[in-house]
Amino acid sequence: MKKRIILIGFMGAGKSYTGKWLYEKTGIPFEDTDSIIEKETGLSVKQIFQDRGEVGFRQIEADIFSDLPQGIIAAGGGCILTESIREILKKDENLVIWLNTSWSTILGRIMCSDRPLVKKSSEEQLHCLYQNRIPLYEECADLVIDNSDENISKFITIIKQHFSDIQ
Ligand code: S3P
Repeated sequence: MKKRIILIGFMGAGKSYTGKWLYEKTGIPFEDTDSIIEKETGLSVKQIFQDRGEVGFRQIEADIFSDLPQGIIAAGGGCILTESIREILKKDENLVIWLNTSWSTILGRIMCSDRPLVKKSSEEQLHCLYQNRIPLYEECADLVIDNSDENISKFITIIKQHFSDIQ
């Protein structure tokens, strides 16, 4: 039996949206790692990037991953860059689902957001980031779900297989 379902994928892949949707359907608690970071530090992700840079943010992120709550977790898009986090994701107690979303869909969703990495990067740099991360998402994922797939009941079936206490 799994302790967590962890949704991974690039910024704009729909991890938080999907996690909230799953919570509404199943009642299984849902958390977003960026929100945990903001709660624990009292700072916004944007502020952490400004004050401590990406390296500082990744250290805090790694700490958060070493003590994740049970349930459904939406993971920050860059978590797979950190080796210790990749090791945590691969543990048997976690079911890791990669929301694989096309670049054009992602681009449309993130360009008007104020995520620190989006603010400081060109479209070309972001595309490069997206391509470079694909092998890492692949490496950590137990399952890949095409996020343009309309068959959303697939998620529920997966959840039911791994958590016994839902209807
Ligand atoms: C990041 C993704 C963000 C957040 C931070 C860095 C990344 O989370 O953790 O801005 O490196 O891809 P979302 O994937 O939820 O946007």
